[in-house]
Amino acid sequence: MTSDILPPLPVDAPVILEMQHISKSFGPVTALVDVSLKLRKGEVLALVGDNGAGKSTLIKTMSGFHAPDGGKMFFNGKETHFASPRDARALGIETVYQDLALIGDLSVYHNMFLGREQRRRFLGFNLLDNERMRELSRSYLDTLGIAIPSVNSTVDMLSGGQRQCIAVARSIYSSPTVLILDEPLAALGVRESAHVLGLIQNLRRQREVSVVLIVHNYNQIFEVCDRINFLHSGEIVLDAATSETSEEELIRIVKSGLGKRAILAAEQEIGPISPIELRN
Ligand SMILES: Nc1ncnc2c1ncn2[C@@H]1O[C@H](COP(=O)(O)OP(=O)(O)O)[C@@H](O)[C@H]1O
Ligand SMILES: [Mg+2]
Repeated sequence: MTSDILPPLPVDAPVILEMQHISKSFGPVTALVDVSLKLRKGEVLALVGDNGAGKSTLIKTMSGFHAPDGGKMFFNGKETHFASPRDARALGIETVYQDLALIGDLSVYHNMFLGREQRRRFLGFNLLDNERMRELSRSYLDTLGIAIPSVNSTVDMLSGGQRQCIAVARSIYSSPTVLILDEPLAALGVRESAHVLGLIQNLRRQREVSVVLIVHNYNQIFEVCDRINFLHSGEIVLDAATSETSEEELIRIVKSGLGKRAILAAEQEIGPISPIELRN
């Protein structure tokens, strides 16, 4: 379902979100060092790196959750400062955090419309329009091919994969300009992962929404991403189109325990070296 070949991102696709020299520390812990990245319209960008590399901190800076200590951010070429996630959301930056932020004891359709409930007036009262939210949720999830027993089920009753699909569907439903997904495939089975990847691939085909995707499995990255940014100890050490890099190169960087810059610097000093030598 997700393995079809898509044409590459148009070279003139405008940059929608740009970070320049972003840094962020938490007390003595440096989470991001001089991070610069560009996200183009319609692009699917993978963020990869070990646990603790700074991936979540980076996306939380994009989504207004953290204020950076230094550096600049631009949205559509204009410098922006986010005081809160609400500011980012106002520009259409939607984030699905690792913990999903669904409310377990509410129904699927209430979760779909959380914070933007549909209402109707009845005898002068402003009531929730449950019937309409149910119907809209049902048809929207159908359109995306997401099978759940009923939109009336509480989210607690669903599998991890179904919950992930609901969280992603909810953020797509809000017609974002930028969709940020923090490890959407963690803890999903093969079929469930394929479904979420299919949703991302559909967005990629339309080239309207830009996606930032944190994922660990390199196969999946090469399947649905246009570009890869590799974070190591808070630094971007590789920024490459998926067509210009390979799983082998990513594995080489991981195994070396160092960033690409460090490898290049060492190679300039002493000539070509293998990752094994670097570790010694
Ligand atoms: N709110 C926080 N307070 C203190 N330290 C944090 C906080 N968030 C992240 N960190 C630290 O920043 C570093 C990067 O973390 P994180 O961005 O979560 O990495 P990743 O998502 O790549 O696993 C880690 O050392 C982590 O412990
Ligand atoms: Mg994380």
